[in-house]
Amino acid sequence: MKIAVVGTGYVGLVTGTCLAETGNTVTCVDINEQKVKLMQSGQIPIYEPGLEMLFHRNIEQSRLTFTTNLVEAVKDAKIVFLALPTPPGEGGAADLSYVLGAAESLAKIIINYKLIVTKSTVPVGTADKVKAVFEKHLDKTSGGEVDVVSNPEFLREGVAVDDFMKPDRVVIGTKSERAQKIMSELYSPYVRQGNPIIFMDERSSELTKYAANSFLATKISFMNEIANLCELVGADVDAIRRGIGADERIGKRFLFPGIGYGGSCFPKDVQALVQSASEHTYDFKILNSVLEVNALQKKILVEKLLNYYKGDIKGKKFALWGLAFKPETDDIREAPALDIIENLLEYGATITAFDPQAMSQVKNIFGEKISFSSNQYDALEGADALVIATEWSLFRNPDFDRMESLIKHKVIFDGRNLYDLQKMIDLGYYYNSIGRKLVQL
Ligand SMILES: NC(=O)c1ccc[n+]([C@@H]2O[C@H](COP(=O)([O-])OP(=O)(O)OC[C@H]3O[C@@H](n4cnc5c(N)ncnc54)[C@H](O)[C@@H]3O)[C@@H](O)[C@H]2O)c1
Repeated sequence: MKIAVVGTGYVGLVTGTCLAETGNTVTCVDINEQKVKLMQSGQIPIYEPGLEMLFHRNIEQSRLTFTTNLVEAVKDAKIVFLALPTPPGEGGAADLSYVLGAAESLAKIIINYKLIVTKSTVPVGTADKVKAVFEKHLDKTSGGEVDVVSNPEFLREGVAVDDFMKPDRVVIGTKSERAQKIMSELYSPYVRQGNPIIFMDERSSELTKYAANSFLATKISFMNEIANLCELVGADVDAIRRGIGADERIGKRFLFPGIGYGGSCFPKDVQALVQSASEHTYDFKILNSVLEVNALQKKILVEKLLNYYKGDIKGKKFALWGLAFKPETDDIREAPALDIIENLLEYGATITAFDPQAMSQVKNIFGEKISFSSNQYDALEGADALVIATEWSLFRNPDFDRMESLIKHKVIFDGRNLYDLQKMIDLGYYYNSIGRKLVQL
């Protein structure tokens, strides 16, 4: 099938590339000229494991092309995916201007049948708004006709290619039989193992995405509160995690406490659902608490640090391992590390940071205010303490001898619970993690 993907960010590029991988011909369109030029020259603008190989293969086989020209991109396409940003707008509600703006531009150029698929995360009722835009601007006399489908994306950055190629489920919101048939055909190569394509109405589909992200964010905030309680009562959150995770109704995943969720989705999507509920006069109490808990949890590592130094960290030097909001991505949107850096700088500390993928992005924000090192060990040289903000695999089993020769004081504040407590005792560290016993000399 011939497909256009409008918006070539994390979702658009993964979607376009993975759709090309099953034989479709895909044109990705973006307004960012620099990004498009980069992709046209065969360079990938994001770090996403496994994507680069598919990206090159499909470009070479002429199934994947890039343009800034919307008319050219959609001219021959039967399906047009919208993978546009939906950032928080007024009061936290999703800003639909990108999606509705693109719909209007499309409506003015479409002269035959197209299936318009919204992949962006959008509030309930957006499909109706998109349909209304087409109703108003589409030139039906010249053959223009559309179906509008909601098809939320559930991929996780870091494993996005796997998630797209073998999704747990595909959710499709449409009442149109023609649209259902086309979408079934398009997605059938991705669900060969039997995972479901779930058809529903547009509104339910739109809400499914928010419900999924908000539920996961709730699970994280719940475990963060359990962890905080563990520290007060002398319990161990790891034991509790295993104890409750063995219950199939609860499940083992998403039970790791930390320093608050970040990323481009959970923070904005929880906020948008609360806002959307309140627009329908519903006070979503649990999610308001989730937001509050997460904001507090993002401060917890710096609080621990201030406690340890009795409030005075002026002139202290910290090594910061991890900047991305999670491992295996270069995405720093809403990353807890950014809050940590801001707080530490406010208190007059100095920071040397290392991240395998996200340093240039952080440099764009903080410039010369913090230093960066080319590997995790150099950051430790002369540091008063190590602060861990992202659980990259290469931090899990570091060379502790080398660390000891570099760090000034054997002090670790670990926001990701990477190390075994007994090991930290044996190595003689002060080790402060989340929801576990404090290791001190
Ligand atoms: N990132 C994720 O993990 C993820 C997962 C599931 C769903 N989503 C949702 O998918 C949507 C896109 O997210 P993302 O992370 O890919 O965003 P992104 O910011 O990485 O990418 C959006 C792209 O759209 C481009 N763009 C903006 N206006 C345009 C226009 N008028 N025409 C063409 N291109 C335009 C931007 O230049 C950018 O490249 C959001 O609604 C998000 O909530 C994201």
